Amino acid sequence: MNPLYEQIKERLKKYHQEQLLNFYDYLNDSDKQKLLFQLLNINFQKINNLYSSLKTISIPSGETIEPLEYFVKSDIPVKRRRELENQGTEMLKKSQYAVLTMAGGQGTRLGHKGPKGTFELNLFPKKASLFEILADKIKQANKRYGIQIPWYIMTSETNNDDTIKFFEDKNYFNYDKNKIFFFIQDKLPIVSADTGKILLSEPYQVHEASNGNGNLFKSLKKNNLITQMKQSGVKWIFVSGIDNILVKIADPIFLALTSSNSEIGAKTIFKKDPYSQDWVFCRKNGKPAMLGYERITDEITNANIDGKYLYRDVNILCHLFSIDAIEKISNLDLPYHRATKKNTYINDEGMKIVPEAPNSYKFETFIFDSFKFFDNITLLRVDEEKEFAPIKDPVGIYSPDTATKLYLKEEFKSIFS
Ligand code: UTP
Repeated sequence: MNPLYEQIKERLKKYHQEQLLNFYDYLNDSDKQKLLFQLLNINFQKINNLYSSLKTISIPSGETIEPLEYFVKSDIPVKRRRELENQGTEMLKKSQYAVLTMAGGQGTRLGHKGPKGTFELNLFPKKASLFEILADKIKQANKRYGIQIPWYIMTSETNNDDTIKFFEDKNYFNYDKNKIFFFIQDKLPIVSADTGKILLSEPYQVHEASNGNGNLFKSLKKNNLITQMKQSGVKWIFVSGIDNILVKIADPIFLALTSSNSEIGAKTIFKKDPYSQDWVFCRKNGKPAMLGYERITDEITNANIDGKYLYRDVNILCHLFSIDAIEKISNLDLPYHRATKKNTYINDEGMKIVPEAPNSYKFETFIFDSFKFFDNITLLRVDEEKEFAPIKDPVGIYSPDTATKLYLKEEFKSIFS
């Protein structure tokens, strides 16, 4: 008998995850080796702990919740706006700015086969993928400011090869390929929501997936990219998701405001429906944080001064971080959260099951948990219809159709402005 197999079998027994070897005897030698190697690298104790500790939402008592100051972009007086624009433009022209796109997610809700960034929209008359839309935006900024913005793209082990192949096939959208840096984030096994058992994606493969966008800091460090950024003179990094097609990737006002006030910044939109499940920005125990919807009481959501609501700023995943902030966070541990997702798995009979509803937990760290390591964050509330058109679901308010309409409306306006 293979001693490695015996050793792993014992470990699986200890952590009640023996199902992962259910099909071992039917595999060929190469798949057997692959599976054993994958299992060898999994921290089962950690997964079991995460499953049991995150089963219920705990609300810590004795926390102080206060509002955070925010700026409203459309309310900034013209003169101040000009000043900020000039200041931000000068900063951008110095070539100290980088863009980081988080494209390591699974995109389970959209259900597109392949990396989400390869999803194509019909932007009459042309079709463009989400990656191409972003590439065009960065190219426009390069032209406007006479720079070559380095573009960092976080992928996952699952989608990295397909992502790079897509860029190669599209000739990197005519972007300087030496200025594009792909890096793979970390991963963790996915567990059944009902039982906490780790799932198989194939009889020979444990179902693992990226461990949340908060992993970006550690992944940058692990790939030596923080040092590389510093060496190339990068001072500010704009971080956003792959799926907001109205994202403004180089906004001088946001850059000038953030850099004058703090080491980190976030764009927000106003929470119109006070009872939606969106989390809002706040100050928790004196530090910037997000307040989960289960904590948002009527009193909090309606709190206002002269009609200006204090807890209505929703995160849209558009952030600025100074390079020092990124480095600081990369040395700290962010807590895990539980995300409920629809994931295909192999059942006890060896059949592949494609669930119709969310069936599994993915353990993720989130960017917003890094805010508490700073005294301040610059919040810039922007117009939703101008800067936020994410693609999450096949239909509804965050669908390709809705996002395309918003995008074309903005494009149309910009032609005539
Ligand atoms: P979402 O929370 O919308 O998740 O990610 P998702 O994986 O894209 O989609 P669903 O929930 O499975 O349908 C917001 C942004 O964070 C990135 C995503 O690629 C997206 O740009 N992300 C998310 C990562 O880069 N890594 C992760 O582990 C999770």
